[in-house]
Amino acid sequence: MTIGFFDSGIGGLTVLEESLRRLPAQDYLYMADTLHVPYGPKAEDEVKSYIMDTVEKMMAEGLEALVVACNTATSIAVNELRERYSLPIVGMEPAVKPAVEMNRATGKRVLVFATALTLQMPKYYALVSRVDDGGIVDSLPLPELVQFCEALQFDRKVLGDYFREKLSGYDLDDYGIVVLGCTHYPFYTNILQEILPSHIQIVNGNAGTIRRLSALLSRYGVASGRGSGKVKFMCTGGEQAYIDKMQTALTLLRENKL
Ligand code: DGL
Repeated sequence: MTIGFFDSGIGGLTVLEESLRRLPAQDYLYMADTLHVPYGPKAEDEVKSYIMDTVEKMMAEGLEALVVACNTATSIAVNELRERYSLPIVGMEPAVKPAVEMNRATGKRVLVFATALTLQMPKYYALVSRVDDGGIVDSLPLPELVQFCEALQFDRKVLGDYFREKLSGYDLDDYGIVVLGCTHYPFYTNILQEILPSHIQIVNGNAGTIRRLSALLSRYGVASGRGSGKVKFMCTGGEQAYIDKMQTALTLLRENKL
């Protein structure tokens, strides 16, 4: 039996990489919805039907647990998925709460990067209004970053120009934390670190997600230690070239070569 990881594309590999480090004795199935990536610029109902179809395909493989390794998909469909399936399901949300708490003492602002769809969903508004009592959270969609990532574009000059342009309207001295609220974005943590002033911390929700997965596996009595860290890659379009790309991207993450 296997733990399923699902994303529109290769972004969820940043979450899988965390899981492979923390839970190496599990086996994994990683599914990318290559027929419909990217989700971020599309309409909610359209994306919801892609998610439900893709997860149905994954379930046919026999999963023990599911990680929705995509902030956009979580905000749109995690409730429906939990209603439809009885296995443990872990979703993701931008790490706004820890970021606000970490920043309380400094008086600095928090900048959240996520897809346009995540940022416009009621779940995100509810999260920010719950935790941002001081009104310190700003949000910025970075749709091109998903496209760069899907093309394995990690060139420092290209990305440097891109980030500088996107951030040109912000006084970065005002910010203490950048939250990566899309699972594609941690591919760019090192590049961002080179561009942002050194006082800005970059956080994502991957470690918290895998801690929740680990706790859920124990609670549901799913044995730990039956697998060997094997990863089976699938994609809705079935393209072998994409499966090769996923393997390359996971290796880049695991060897910290980004
Ligand atoms: N990786 C995704 C997320 O965490 C979605 C990217 C996309 O398909 O636009 O939100």
